Amino acid sequence: MCGIVAYVGERDASEVLIEGLRRLEYRGYDSAGIAVQSGSRLELRKRQGKLSNLTLALRENPVQGNLGIGHTRWATHGRPSDLNAHPHTDCREQIAVIHNGIIENYLLLRRELEAQGHTFRSQTDSEVIAHLVEKYFTGDLSAAVYRAVGELQGAYAIVVIAAGTEQVVAVRTVSPLVVGLGEGENFLASDVPALLPYTRRVIFLADGQVAVLDRHQVRITNLRGRPVEVKPSTVDWNPVMAEKGGFDHFMLKEIYEQPQVIQQTLGGRLIDQSGDVDLGLGLDFSQVQRVHLVACGSAFYASCVGKYVLERFARLPVEVDLASEYRYRDPVVPEGTLAVAVSQSGETIDTLEALREARRRGAKTLGLVNVKGSSITREVDDTLYLHAGPEIGVASTKAYTGMLCALVLLGLHLGRQRGTIDQKQASWLIAELRRLSGLVQQVLDHAEAVNELGRRFQNARDFLFLGRGINFPTALEGALKLKEISYIHAEAYATGEMKHGPIALIDANMPVVMVATESAVYDKVISNLQEVKAREGIVLALVSEGDTRAAALADAVIQVPRVSELLSPIVNVVPLQLLAYDIAKRRGLDVDQPRNLAKAVTVE
Ligand code: G6P
Repeated sequence: MCGIVAYVGERDASEVLIEGLRRLEYRGYDSAGIAVQSGSRLELRKRQGKLSNLTLALRENPVQGNLGIGHTRWATHGRPSDLNAHPHTDCREQIAVIHNGIIENYLLLRRELEAQGHTFRSQTDSEVIAHLVEKYFTGDLSAAVYRAVGELQGAYAIVVIAAGTEQVVAVRTVSPLVVGLGEGENFLASDVPALLPYTRRVIFLADGQVAVLDRHQVRITNLRGRPVEVKPSTVDWNPVMAEKGGFDHFMLKEIYEQPQVIQQTLGGRLIDQSGDVDLGLGLDFSQVQRVHLVACGSAFYASCVGKYVLERFARLPVEVDLASEYRYRDPVVPEGTLAVAVSQSGETIDTLEALREARRRGAKTLGLVNVKGSSITREVDDTLYLHAGPEIGVASTKAYTGMLCALVLLGLHLGRQRGTIDQKQASWLIAELRRLSGLVQQVLDHAEAVNELGRRFQNARDFLFLGRGINFPTALEGALKLKEISYIHAEAYATGEMKHGPIALIDANMPVVMVATESAVYDKVISNLQEVKAREGIVLALVSEGDTRAAALADAVIQVPRVSELLSPIVNVVPLQLLAYDIAKRRGLDVDQPRNLAKAVTVE
């Protein structure tokens, strides 16, 4: 899931590359490097750690040139180090390569190339590409690349340049690449944000496509060099949308964008009078008899909420799977299955592969995706976009709420089509949906109450998160947020299951965050709360405005506005995001780029 950027034109290449990498650092930050063509040589600068290390090195030792490639790494093969940083070069430093993904047969290739006299410097799988291109290079870079990729196995995006050649050659198999079209200059990156300062006209490369860029043209071919017709698209994100907008961190900005995201996701899709929703999809749902939701990370927890919503609204059986499990468990996919891939990036490889598996077995496919033109959107029968705007913080927040809204829309749509929700119920739900944005704003307006809890509990070693029914996933997501960015061990459990294990952990040092908002099982939650208190646990209860029973028992309360139980996860998750953020910030941690994580995971 490394970040990739390339440039050819008249500008100072190192400036464009560093600016691009800055916007892609969320894809990995174990190391960063660039290679720039300088006269007839390639100049390399590589540094372990964050991009700032590389910019420092460049300040001391700048490079001049108008063509280059840059990379920010999330390590797979070979530990993070200067040596393992990309770009990698051939024996004579005449060819430089950056790579995202995994070359599965690299050991075999490396042995062969070493036997042929090639000398390797790093422990990465990526370096074999540079030596393979060297082996086949006789002056025509793209010809050498076509031959080299013929020997590679795996899923990857690679970009290659050669000293004295005015070309950038990029190959995509699975891992994403997008070309940015300019005037007298062209760009390439793994994600759109790196291109936004320069151009909105882009070409999303498909699997098995090669782009050959020089400053005047871009040629797209298949892996054998045969030209392919592609239509450029225009992206509608502006660069300011991808900036921090005055907040300390992208994550906080994105948390505060949620009222807007809710409006954007729902916007124009609700039809008040008839109680219908217009998803603008061409997909025919009339034969759908069951739904399989596949996703990873926060998208998986959003899908867990989706199961409750779809089953309740549409009375369809719904299975939710971690994409990495679904793919390999030989899933039963009967006729009439709709497989829904839920993904912010649309690039998560496990989700993409799970989707492919479902499709191979005959399922219809739908993407619930944020990033336009991403891999999943190109492979599904149809896509319901989240319209959450670019999400940069590694810990997902606004895309999560966008997913919940999109799943509610899907449930409502299927429910209306199947006649399992009548017009009156649907109109009432639509009225509730219209209130949602304002309710989330109210939660944000009272963030100081959450911050006070952050202050009290910032030094806790462990946290337990409990939630029931449709808010069990809220507890899971709350715990995930805290672990991801504060590195505090946090475990989530279904409240009713607490007595079967985690109750043994409860003592006076264990804060227990309990989702205890108004619900059909509220009385049971109160009993569970008492069980925690009887063991001297410290309870932080998330309660509905005006609640007295849970509030009387808890050590601390966070109030949220009342809303229909089916929509409550959208409101309830917000204070938990704020709590995780506040604790991580107080602990002085790197909120937007937590250790070992990356925003888009394009390796298995
Ligand atoms: C990574 C991110 C998570 C995200 C997950 C799934 O692990 O750090 O925040 O939830 O991938 O990503 P997706 O883009 O498929 O929603």
